[in-house]
Amino acid sequence: MKAPAIQDLTELDAVIELAELARDIARHDRLYHAKDQPEITDAEYDALVARNRALEARFPQLIRSDSPSRRIGAPVAEGFAKSRHGEPMLSLDNVFSVEEFGDFCKRIRRFLGLTDTEALAFVGEPKIDGLSINLLYEDGVFIKGATRGDGAEGEDVTANLLTIPSLPRRLTAPFPASIEIRGEVFMEKADFLSFRATQEEASEAREARRAAGEKLGEAVVIPANPRNAAAGSLRQLDARITATRPLKLLAYAMGAASEAPAETHHDFLDELRRWGFTVNPLSRRLDSEGAAEHFQAEIGAGRAALAYDIDGVVYKLDRIDWQRRLGFVGRAPRWAVAWKFPAEQAVTKLLDIEIQVGRTGALTPRAVMEPVNVGGVVVRHATLHNEDEVTRKDVRIGDTVMLQRAGDVIPQILGVVLEKRLADSQPYAFPLNCPACGSHAIRDGEDVVRRCTGGLTCPAQTTERLRHFVSRRAMDIEGLGEENIQFLFDAGLIKSPADIFRLHQKRETLAGFEGWGERKISKLLEAIEARRSVALERFIFALGIRRIGEQNAKLLARHYHSLEAWRAAMIAAHIIGSEAREELGSIQGIGPAIAEELVEFFAEPRNLAALDDLAAEVSPLPVEETSAADSPFAAKTMVFTGTLEKMTRDEAEALAERLGAKVTKSVSKKTDFVVVGADAGSKAAKAAELGVKVLTEAEWLEMTGA
Ligand code: IVH
Repeated sequence: MKAPAIQDLTELDAVIELAELARDIARHDRLYHAKDQPEITDAEYDALVARNRALEARFPQLIRSDSPSRRIGAPVAEGFAKSRHGEPMLSLDNVFSVEEFGDFCKRIRRFLGLTDTEALAFVGEPKIDGLSINLLYEDGVFIKGATRGDGAEGEDVTANLLTIPSLPRRLTAPFPASIEIRGEVFMEKADFLSFRATQEEASEAREARRAAGEKLGEAVVIPANPRNAAAGSLRQLDARITATRPLKLLAYAMGAASEAPAETHHDFLDELRRWGFTVNPLSRRLDSEGAAEHFQAEIGAGRAALAYDIDGVVYKLDRIDWQRRLGFVGRAPRWAVAWKFPAEQAVTKLLDIEIQVGRTGALTPRAVMEPVNVGGVVVRHATLHNEDEVTRKDVRIGDTVMLQRAGDVIPQILGVVLEKRLADSQPYAFPLNCPACGSHAIRDGEDVVRRCTGGLTCPAQTTERLRHFVSRRAMDIEGLGEENIQFLFDAGLIKSPADIFRLHQKRETLAGFEGWGERKISKLLEAIEARRSVALERFIFALGIRRIGEQNAKLLARHYHSLEAWRAAMIAAHIIGSEAREELGSIQGIGPAIAEELVEFFAEPRNLAALDDLAAEVSPLPVEETSAADSPFAAKTMVFTGTLEKMTRDEAEALAERLGAKVTKSVSKKTDFVVVGADAGSKAAKAAELGVKVLTEAEWLEMTGA
């Protein structure tokens, strides 16, 4: 009944599950951040992220370029100005048990090269479920504030933040010339309940007006939980509305700063208080791992009595010099973690099984359930992953099912409460035809996924591909969101990616649609024009070829340099054993399955026609320069061997990657540098033999400027 154990999965299972997780998590991120309308509980979400992380740890070669571990939050919504954070706003990894917290501490020790006896001091802070914000102070004056957004830039909500009484307008001196303060905006439970009651009344009054045939203003939103209430309140376009909402602010971190305000996090919290911020009074310095474990139990026991909702405790390594050395991996710091409270279960009724059709034709079953409250959020949907999962669980429409939200397990239907099964229930028959286009849906070889064979004739696949094509990480065409794509597709104006670039010929047709004013049309057409030249890697990624995520697209773009060269090589690679095929196979990171997928894509005449049609409209540019491009290690392949003195191997490798290098384990002709520490063995010898450049630790440090 549980999700299959990670060690039992084949690589293929993992590929599929990672793809599903990437898609599901992205969707939930959108629902949560952009729409403030989550469909699953936070614990279910966390379980998805944890499962993804566990899969990636076991199959590091399968980490997707669009992996949720590399991404945070949602893009900014329309209506607010964008605001770029001085330093990215990141997220936290989660742990759920003493063991996992122990592993987190072990990783810190290993990275820093500490012994087991050296104590790790933390600061524990209750993790309030609100909305994180970034506040910029210059010369002690509050300049602007923004939501997290996609982590790099958020929405400028300065006017709204100024309505929060506990936000200091000026800091008490002394203070750094410039500093970003991070904290959480939230609503207390009691405030939430009375606010919701007000909204319910307003909603009823509105219904009464509707019944009386009166004109109605904007719909009244009834928030599902305090977090949504806080998010909805802070993101009001009219700050006067925000001013009526009972929002609070707690500060707990900093971003970019002109100077370091403290040496420990604990002292930093004291500074925050002195400057005038409210810091959670329950935050406490804990001088060991064991003290953290006690704190977790203590806060857990007192949780229900708190005035606000918390979903766990954040533990931050107290020493800031250590925080700096540890740095970040993916979207989370290595020096902090959120220890979440255990999950809950709930029972509800399965109303339906919906089939969603993805970009590559995958049919994914989704459970539609009678809404049920699990830990404060109403859950209506759960993924059932694939056909076999439905069969294995024998879930039937009308069944009473048990929902699970817990650590390493995918949030899912745990199983059926058989005693409650209806006498006339029927096993679920998975559709053999695509629900969107009626084409046969087949399972290829060992594929656990049933796929629609309709290809580009399937409207669901086509719109999903178009959505992918214009999405932020692909062609990034602003103003062509999901709804507009669907609309333009239904109206027959866009069938293929190239059609998007011919939309300007349909200006008059567009102007005839309701809600399509001159300004909207011009803005959209301008956004489209602006993307006629994009980096080759974006272009390749945007094509939506199976298994070609951002990372692989980048590898291909870097290797082949131009669209023409890539296209010719992919066609030539059709012949197994050909030089082109060998070359494709030799690209680091492009395995046989990916090569196969590319070759197949190019072997399909319709794909080639669509590509050429598109290439007539768009001219992809060579690979974008990265910011690490100036470092001597940019795009170089490096190997570290032996014991380093100034930093651990992990730390050195992370630094090399930050400088744009690719770190590998073994020395070959392709290696550019081998950094040799004490007692280096065969790798140093191999490097000498192959004539690869060898650096001592000192030389390496010198070149990094560290
Ligand atoms: S520190 C790099 N401290 O949790 C450190 N975050 O999962 C980033 N949160 O976006 C955050 N209480 O919204 C931090 N005491 C606390 C927190 C806290 C709640 C939220 C915050 C953040 C999310 C990370």
